[in-house]
Amino acid sequence: MLSRRSLLGSPFAVLAARKGFGQDWEAEKVVVDPARQIGTVRPELHGHFAEHLGSCIYGGLWVGKGSRIAHINGHRRQAVEWLRELGIPVLRWPGGCFADDYHWRDGIGPAARRPKRVNIHWGNYTEDNSFGTHEFIELCRLIGAEPYIAGNVGSGTPQELRDWVEYCNYPSGSSLSEERAANGSPEPFRVRYWGVGNENWGCGGNMTPEEYAAHYRRFATYLRDFGDTRLFLIACGPGGHNLEWTRRFMENMPRRTRIHGFAMHYYSRGRDYATRFTAESLREQLATFAALEKAVIEQRELLDKFDKDRRIGLLVDEWGVWDRMDPEEEKRYGRLFQQITMRSALAAALGLNVFHRQADKLIMGNIAQTVNVLHALLLTDGERCVRTTTYYAFELLKPHRGGAALQAHCERPGPLGLSVSASRQADRLALTLVNPKHDAGVKVACTLAAGSASEARARILHHPDFNAANTFASPNLIVPRDHPVEASGAALRLELPPLSVLTLTARLTGA
Ligand code: AHR
Repeated sequence: MLSRRSLLGSPFAVLAARKGFGQDWEAEKVVVDPARQIGTVRPELHGHFAEHLGSCIYGGLWVGKGSRIAHINGHRRQAVEWLRELGIPVLRWPGGCFADDYHWRDGIGPAARRPKRVNIHWGNYTEDNSFGTHEFIELCRLIGAEPYIAGNVGSGTPQELRDWVEYCNYPSGSSLSEERAANGSPEPFRVRYWGVGNENWGCGGNMTPEEYAAHYRRFATYLRDFGDTRLFLIACGPGGHNLEWTRRFMENMPRRTRIHGFAMHYYSRGRDYATRFTAESLREQLATFAALEKAVIEQRELLDKFDKDRRIGLLVDEWGVWDRMDPEEEKRYGRLFQQITMRSALAAALGLNVFHRQADKLIMGNIAQTVNVLHALLLTDGERCVRTTTYYAFELLKPHRGGAALQAHCERPGPLGLSVSASRQADRLALTLVNPKHDAGVKVACTLAAGSASEARARILHHPDFNAANTFASPNLIVPRDHPVEASGAALRLELPPLSVLTLTARLTGA
């Protein structure tokens, strides 16, 4: 039998000490090559989406000009401040399914005269249209986001969408631009990103790829650049990894058609209520991010067959976790409201890591959705507003934005293994590690293939319970904290507890 003294001096001592912490520890080697760049981590890979759905807009981002909740011209002040602080590179609106039943004229002019419409996709409740185009643009300006408008193809006409573009972008002198000026905005909105429909294989008109391609060609013909604004037209891509949609759509898209983006949607379904996941449902959901990565690679490969010079960019226009909805919570907070937990943060970081690793294949990624819906950054209840773990995952991964994505490999990759992404901007290295396991910590030994690292600093988001959440009662339960990291020459070492997201930044020399 080992004596206490011999146990303390042996490798078992580490394990014994760790057992007290409640899990095993695995060792993992990571190699980052600062000289091998994949592509730019476009800030738009960290994009967002806000739909007229549940309490995302009404009651969430928009509380109205007469609200007792603190606001800026009707926009919830706390949400504006936190989103501005995080930085929202691009914001997609007004849907989603809602987009193909939205008629933009309903949302302009004096608010009191705007019609009340029924939101047929999300529960048949009425909306007073007090949040329309001007309010959306104002919100984007307040938070520093580039606006992205999804147009109505399903129930709209080419003329309606063409007029919306003119209303937003024509500098002055046409009736529509004068109407915009009369409604308070003489300056054009300069909206570049326009979605030509949304999920037109489903809620956007139940079309075949051939039917949608015909609509796309027709609509795109009438969408024009005005003034100094060059339009970026985005076509509806597949739901999930549907290669047939992509192939048949592209077969019907002559090269001369104006198409700049192709938008796939990819949700990670959860079979349990958000705060009642089991180890098995956790693993099942987190493993979908490996499937998302495969889908991005294969969708791009297929697009390349039709578009060798990559004139058309691939977007993951909607993504995120979609858990089992709790009917009581939906009744109280609106459709598709779900609690955001430590698991959701892992999922957000796994998704962003995929986008960084595939930075050469993607131009944009918009998480669904910004407030109170699905994989939300903020949750609100009356005047209360909390930053979720999704918010903090985006904050932790922010140092990658605008950098050059680098080759980075783990020794034992796998859907539930350590996830890694790396990037650099001049001599600044950013490395994000996600440990999705609930029952094993990871001792990470990271080596730089060239050069050395100094001034290393790490921030971690971690909670030992994957169902733990920042709630209205406990809004700051899970927040990023500093974490120890050792840097010596080309080696970086740290310990990642189970269920953690960590970003390390360091200064690179000689690489
Ligand atoms: O984000 C919720 C819904 O999911 C969107 O309205 C739709 O585009 C997708 O199916």
